[in-house]
Amino acid sequence: MKVFTKNIKDIQPSQLYISKTKLLEVEKYLDSANIEDIEPLPIRKIGKYTFFTDGHTRAFALMKRGIEEVKVYWDEDDLDWVQYLVCVDWCNKEGIKSISDLKKRVVDDEDYKKLWYSRCDIMQERSVNDLDYYLDIRTVLEDNEKCNICELVLRALPDWFGIEESIKDYIIGVKDSVFLSVYIGEVPIGFLSVIEHNEFTSEIYVVGILKEFHRRGIGKRLIKATEDILVKQNKMFLTVKTLSSSHPDEGYRKTRGFYRTVGFYPLEEFPELWGKENPCLLMVKKL
Ligand SMILES: CC(C)(COP(=O)(O)OP(=O)(O)OC[C@H]1O[C@@H](n2cnc3c(N)ncnc32)[C@H](O)[C@@H]1OP(=O)(O)O)[C@@H](O)C(=O)NCCC(=O)NCCS
Repeated sequence: MKVFTKNIKDIQPSQLYISKTKLLEVEKYLDSANIEDIEPLPIRKIGKYTFFTDGHTRAFALMKRGIEEVKVYWDEDDLDWVQYLVCVDWCNKEGIKSISDLKKRVVDDEDYKKLWYSRCDIMQERSVNDLDYYLDIRTVLEDNEKCNICELVLRALPDWFGIEESIKDYIIGVKDSVFLSVYIGEVPIGFLSVIEHNEFTSEIYVVGILKEFHRRGIGKRLIKATEDILVKQNKMFLTVKTLSSSHPDEGYRKTRGFYRTVGFYPLEEFPELWGKENPCLLMVKKL
């Protein structure tokens, strides 16, 4: 665990209230503790947000003491990041952008349970049983937004998109594509870009979902939303080019598994289209 320091103002809360009881306990502890011994705070970066995953009360108490630089570490736990982003979105919508914005939200224990725990309980259950409630799939029309989302997502997926030149090509190439992005609140967490070849066929130009959100059915939803658009245009085929199974890459083995599940079939391998080291597989789905 690598510990480093960060300005407390640059860390977004993911909690809307502070419990007065817990704050008193933490303040009592801080009164007797050596500042150097205070445990670092866990943070995570998703998209443009760097947020606390825990330790809000400690952060708040440190802020009250005028401490600006706090010790932090990247939280690598496998947590439910959909739920965290919903909380970050709530905070944003209610103007809670840094820990000092919680000053007027220090509440009694009973209120804390009612206002925060109950709200989280409902959200947690809903995010498991009705994920669509928190997902927003939108067609993006504005070029800059397409490029920014594409860059943000591809750069967060180095196991799949590790070649700088091709990342740059995608960032420019998505401008001329139909571009669907999936958001939690205002945070884009993935996208799919599709280009038209002719009146019958379109191709997935590039698709990516942040790793924190894999295997939640979001890719499947993006494909479905894309197909709905293409079917209305009377398209008959959707194709995609991906790394062939003659390459041992583990990430792309998963990608091919995904494409097969959502109805694509391997059509032909092009061993040299992307150079000998990246054999290309063309897959197709009948719409
Ligand atoms: C490929 C990708 C878009 C899939 O998105 P996703 O949201 O993780 O996929 P879903 O959860 O919708 O998966 C739907 C089904 O596909 C299959 N599938 C998905 N990921 C799989 C994996 N890692 N291994 C095997 N099957 C997989 C499963 O059957 C899954 O359903 P299940 O979870 O109920 O079993 C996403 O993993 C991604 O961004 N990968 C990195 C970038 C990439 O590969 N881009 C494509 C370049 S050609």
